[in-house]
Amino acid sequence: MRPLLHFTPRTGWINDPHGVVHADGRYHLFFQHNPAGSVWAEAIHWGHAVSDDLLTWEELPVALSPDGGEAGCWSGSLVLDGGEPVLFYTRVRQPDWAVGQVAVARGSKDLETWRREPVDAVVPGPPPELGVTAFRDPAVWRAGDGWRMLVGASLAGVDGAALQYSSDDLLGWRFDGVVAQRPTTAREGTRTGAMWECPHLFELDGSWVLLFSVWADETLHHVAYGVGDYDGVAFTARSWHRFGHGEQMYATTTFLDADGRRCVLSWLREHADAAPGDRAGAHSLPWVLRLDGDTLVATPHPNLCGEPAPPAGALGPAAQVVLAADGPATVTRGALTLTTDPAAGTVTVAEGGAPRLTMPWGPRVRLIVDADIVEVAVDGVAGVGSTRCAPEPDAPLAVEGGTVAVTRY
Ligand code: FRU
Repeated sequence: MRPLLHFTPRTGWINDPHGVVHADGRYHLFFQHNPAGSVWAEAIHWGHAVSDDLLTWEELPVALSPDGGEAGCWSGSLVLDGGEPVLFYTRVRQPDWAVGQVAVARGSKDLETWRREPVDAVVPGPPPELGVTAFRDPAVWRAGDGWRMLVGASLAGVDGAALQYSSDDLLGWRFDGVVAQRPTTAREGTRTGAMWECPHLFELDGSWVLLFSVWADETLHHVAYGVGDYDGVAFTARSWHRFGHGEQMYATTTFLDADGRRCVLSWLREHADAAPGDRAGAHSLPWVLRLDGDTLVATPHPNLCGEPAPPAGALGPAAQVVLAADGPATVTRGALTLTTDPAAGTVTVAEGGAPRLTMPWGPRVRLIVDADIVEVAVDGVAGVGSTRCAPEPDAPLAVEGGTVAVTRY
């Protein structure tokens, strides 16, 4: 059973979504893709899919494959330069995969055909004096008359960091400095790790948000963000937070939808114990972001409309359940259980009794189930929780404590 509202590949492996843009009348999604197998491989390609609504995706031919001595085309971003699509990717070469180069490809108007131009990397590597041990994932955005770029980095393997570059023409890039860094030992708010993968910096509701994925100890951890100020060169956080809850969400990317809303899409990983199939990986729903104080609140994109449904009976293949409960409450569908416990301060999702996801408590919980994908957002809590659960479209919904509103898709 394939998800209806979440992008999954026809076959093979996917990880990070990136370069999401509304162009030529539709949404384009690019993503890390191994078409040759359902495992990650360094020879990663840029896959491509299109959608009218950010929910139903049509997979198109691969946009970019490793070529000319590249070991892989790793994560990056995409901008429209006076309407011309230009993508920035991490060019990975042997023997040091961790320290990449920033390379450019220019696209046809329909974003389906790409040529490397210029052929040489526009940023051949980090400044040697910084002691950078990992460097990848360029995120480019318009700033005034020019352009800026963040690149995720690790300084001497101990500080997670983002480096900033500026350009007037997308070709020549000046190094501006380390826009932000934090020691891997720091824990206040959340752990931010030794390497910041896929960093994104954007203004939202009067503050600046630096969102990235936390890598440490050879492991992908969670998605984190800082909220604070940015003076064009340095980002100063006033607080740090966890955005993704559970083991699945990683490599969150941000984009503006056709109406200018700040949105995110994330990679949802398989469970470590998942049986291998002929495809692996999914992308999250599009979530719209808003800052409530320093809490990065996520709500489903308004394109997710659906039909109100009675709170009894089978949930069907894809549904949303909004639970309002000041006290303890449980929502059950087959083997899937969501439990809210205000005394413990937790919301827990379990499958067959085994906890899969725990996040902080709030009085209103939004549970979205689509085939084997489960996403949860809690009022007052930053970000989104996600997990996987065997699909059971015919299993009835049972609710104890609280009230629910159900929408089916
Ligand atoms: C994040 C990441 C990126 C890298 C890509 C490789 O999941 O590790 O840092 O560019 O995946 O596929």
